[in-house]
Amino acid sequence: MLYKNLLSMAAFAGSALAAPTPSQLPADGFPNPSADQLTTINQQADGTLSNAPPPPALNASSIPIFQLINFNENFEVAFFNSLIYNITNDVPGFQVPFGSEKQALLSVLQTVLAQEELHAINAAGVISHFGGAAIPPCTYKFPTTDVMSAINLAETFTALVLGTLQDASQGLSTNGDHGPVRAVASVIGQEGEQNGFFRGLLNAKPSEKPFLTTSIAEFAFSALQDFVVSCPFDVASTIPIPIHPTIAVVGGGEVSAQDQTLTFTADLTNVAAAAPYIGNAAACNSGLWVTYLTGQDLPVSKQVSNASWNGNVLSFSAEFPFNEFVMEGLSIGALTTAGSFASPDAVGAATLAAPALIQVVDPIL
Ligand SMILES: *[C@@H]1O[C@H](CO)[C@@H](O)[C@H](O)[C@H]1NC(C)=O
Ligand SMILES: *[C@@H]1O[C@H](CO)[C@@H](O)[C@H](O)[C@H]1NC(C)=O
Ligand SMILES: *[C@@H]1O[C@H](CO)[C@@H](O)[C@H](O)[C@H]1NC(C)=O
Repeated sequence: MLYKNLLSMAAFAGSALAAPTPSQLPADGFPNPSADQLTTINQQADGTLSNAPPPPALNASSIPIFQLINFNENFEVAFFNSLIYNITNDVPGFQVPFGSEKQALLSVLQTVLAQEELHAINAAGVISHFGGAAIPPCTYKFPTTDVMSAINLAETFTALVLGTLQDASQGLSTNGDHGPVRAVASVIGQEGEQNGFFRGLLNAKPSEKPFLTTSIAEFAFSALQDFVVSCPFDVASTIPIPIHPTIAVVGGGEVSAQDQTLTFTADLTNVAAAAPYIGNAAACNSGLWVTYLTGQDLPVSKQVSNASWNGNVLSFSAEFPFNEFVMEGLSIGALTTAGSFASPDAVGAATLAAPALIQVVDPIL
């Protein structure tokens, strides 16, 4: 959806919430490109921002859906901009030795960057058109220091986005907003194409699962906080989506394709619902579960074992039932106070910490 007055609206939203941090943003006017700059971004993106008119109305409950998309796409823009900078400038760890391979990779990533810019601009336009607060870019930190770990991280957050956009379409439908569903679905396919490319670079099959792992908005929003240094707006009061502490997988989130017990840690400081469990390992082993989202299966809950506390940091283990659910690709874990859920939508309310991002590594050759 491009609105004819998109550019002025986006400019208004930007000025309303303070200026972005320029150093992490591409030098093409993003997030408020001029008409000429937008033409350049369209060309780099291999397609234009839609010129279709906006839907006549949007349920106020749908504004946070687009705010999360905006928040996420801003991060993706900064990430790919940093990755392109590093590869272009042969930053140690990011040298691609063969000139033609370097150029080919940069060509793909430049287009991905421009496509993410248009996704962000589109979301900001929808929000502004309907009177919400569009989301300016934040300042970010990236944990990756070499090209393959960066591609690996891109694959993981794109898989999470692919699950989150399912939740976005479900939410729009629940809110009676069928109008933007077609555009969201077009982005799901687009991000899936990106991830097929990343997976190919990682020696993983391009198509991950028959039905991609779903997620819920608050899990993606929580995961993104780990990349944020600071924002020029108050995140929690501007975007009304819960934020949970994330869960680390001990040994890293990349696991082999087999049944196994995984061990996790989460810092439950400031989690009010965790109070009855703090310091009480027995209560954790009897009353907490790791609940996995995998594919389109119902949430899979496995009882916590081996709980131990270090201050407010809980270590805990749980089975990872790879074989029963063929958990290839991304699975998303949550630490929950219940062990049975009728749908992914029900998991958030019983969550103490999430997500744990678990990637099964199963090379093609
Ligand atoms: C780019 O390189 C810097 C310096 O090594 C690193 O801190 C940053 O995470 C890299 N960016 C990405 C996207 O990996
Ligand atoms: C707006 O969304 C809320 C929450 O899903 C829903 O209860 C309400 O019926 C929607 N309003 C309309 C007019 O569809
Ligand atoms: C129990 O947790 C510890 C960390 O607290 C971990 O090192 C160990 O592997 C876990 N054992 C089992 C059986 O899960």
